[in-house]
Amino acid sequence: MTDLSLTPDRDAPFEAAQVLSARAPGFVPQMVIVLGSGLSGFAKHIENPISIDYVDLPGFPAPSVEGHIGKLHLGYVGGLPVACLAGRKHYYEGRGMGAMTPAIRALKLAGAKTLLVTNATGSLRHDVLPGRVVMITDHINLLPGTPLIGPNDDRFGPRFFSMANAYDQELNQRLIALAATLNINMASGVYLATPGPNFETAAEIRMMARMGADLVGMSSVPEVIVARHCGLRVAALSVVTNLAEGLTTEELSHEHTLKHASVGAVDLTRLVKAF
Ligand code: HPA
Repeated sequence: MTDLSLTPDRDAPFEAAQVLSARAPGFVPQMVIVLGSGLSGFAKHIENPISIDYVDLPGFPAPSVEGHIGKLHLGYVGGLPVACLAGRKHYYEGRGMGAMTPAIRALKLAGAKTLLVTNATGSLRHDVLPGRVVMITDHINLLPGTPLIGPNDDRFGPRFFSMANAYDQELNQRLIALAATLNINMASGVYLATPGPNFETAAEIRMMARMGADLVGMSSVPEVIVARHCGLRVAALSVVTNLAEGLTTEELSHEHTLKHASVGAVDLTRLVKAF
């Protein structure tokens, strides 16, 4: 059953877009960047930033998990106007699948064209080790639903829509070329989203590998679905923080995730700045 109390306020994106144009008049973000676990340090690379607390933006999520803050940074990276979401909501936090929906839609209303998602993941491949940056080429959604369950909001997109080319091939070609130029040994792979908050069992990881997953994580897929629904182009980059359960004897923890995310964040930051 869908809990309708968790369905986001349909008008919140319009109200949030009004706050944005009042706080940053004339600013039109071209790209939205979602900063994942431990990657919020990217915010210091934004020039002339205007930072707005999520609590001041209708529909934006109130933060909770350690390592996840709740601020929107508007500014420039390499001359491009960007909006960085520092802090995302995860399904496991209990706010349903749609917690990020108003934020993505508000930034679409503000003029954004592209969504760049970053996250931290476990690797299902022995050749893709912690600290490595991985470009996501596709996903498998094992979350219990999607953020678009419930009445469709025709103002943003159609009821039914394609997820072909969800991870934009042209943007991915650009990322591949940039990674080569920057000497970053970027891998690519399929991301599988699981509800969490527990890490997986070894048997689950074996199942996921057989399903075709290269990476496992607890985020991102809701944002990507909402972005595709409203016509944003999407690219997504992961930092591998660990080998998935069963591939390693190391015990998984959130602290472990944050520690290894900061190692990979160096390459990720270079790549995102260039992109
Ligand atoms: N599983 C799920 N989510 C994760 C992992 C993992 O091993 N590592 C980082 N996020």
